[in-house]
Amino acid sequence: MNELNAIVDGARAAFGQASTPADLENAKAVYLGKSGRITELMKGLAALAVDEKKSRGAAINQAKQAIEAALVARREGLAEAELLAQLHAESLDVSLPGRRRVAGGLHPVSLSSERIEAIFGSMGFEVAQGPEIEADWFNFTALNTPEDHPARSMHDTFYVEGGTANAPNLLRTHTSPVQIRHAVQHVKKYRHLIDAGQAMPEIRVVVPGRCYRVDSDATHSPMFHQVEGLWVGENISFKDLKVIYLDFIQSFFETKDLDIRFRPSFFPFTEPSAEIDIMFGAGPLKGRWLEVSGSGQVHPNVVRNMGLDPERYIGFAFGSGIDRLTMLRYGVDDLRLFFDGDLRFLSQFQ
Ligand code: DAH
Repeated sequence: MNELNAIVDGARAAFGQASTPADLENAKAVYLGKSGRITELMKGLAALAVDEKKSRGAAINQAKQAIEAALVARREGLAEAELLAQLHAESLDVSLPGRRRVAGGLHPVSLSSERIEAIFGSMGFEVAQGPEIEADWFNFTALNTPEDHPARSMHDTFYVEGGTANAPNLLRTHTSPVQIRHAVQHVKKYRHLIDAGQAMPEIRVVVPGRCYRVDSDATHSPMFHQVEGLWVGENISFKDLKVIYLDFIQSFFETKDLDIRFRPSFFPFTEPSAEIDIMFGAGPLKGRWLEVSGSGQVHPNVVRNMGLDPERYIGFAFGSGIDRLTMLRYGVDDLRLFFDGDLRFLSQFQ
């Protein structure tokens, strides 16, 4: 019966070497398949005499059972190995620290814009917005800065392909064009009152937003933020502008120990024009005049472009740098920090 033992050993070895279920089924076919070793031996029984058939048959059967047992054991072994591999591959390391959710927050310049809107809102000013890609007409011409006017050279402008003087052709260099846009809408709404000689509700609006100029250093960025202010009415004066600006700036910096001065200047869209300087009475900036805004009485030509009679309506306007106000408020000395997107800087304002 050595021959049968050898077959059983061979089967065990072959099953042991099968490393996948498919290999195992192939190895099984060699022994138990239609023309497998055991099957062939069974077929050979037919030629034997009766008693020999009996004992030989029993021996072959025993070998067959041993092979089948080895097959089942290997099948189970492979299934278990597969399961273990899968569990290993999909395992979770429950001891790993969790991922923390970082809470975002508003950018310091946005915080300032919101503050400015809230302060002017409390003084009866609306908030308006305008397009950042602007037409020459609104950005310059309507603001009393005709083509070839030398004042245009104070603004190093980004022009956009495909526009015309009346259709968007540049990135606005200041928020002042929204003075015209807003006033024209306002006047349209109240035209019937104006024409009937009645009082039009005053225009009081602030316009925070992005502006663009070809300019880049520690205190200038090609993209920067301004807030425009416009107040148009029948009985207002420079005094009103001074009062609201002082009130605004003291609220913005949360101190009454803050002085303000209007220094004569030039802007094409205002006459007279002034720069607004501020001076803190305490703190690291104490005693220095700091320029924060342009301002002035709206030029009669601009009042006319708003659709109003400059003999009857008078306007006051200002344009302040929000980035500059934010730098002063938080003691930041390089404007570029605001726009580098470095979270180590930005997260300090949350
Ligand atoms: N638009 C001016 C600038 O960007 C700032 C300015 C000055 C705005 C005087 C005004 C103003 O409304 O009255 O330089």
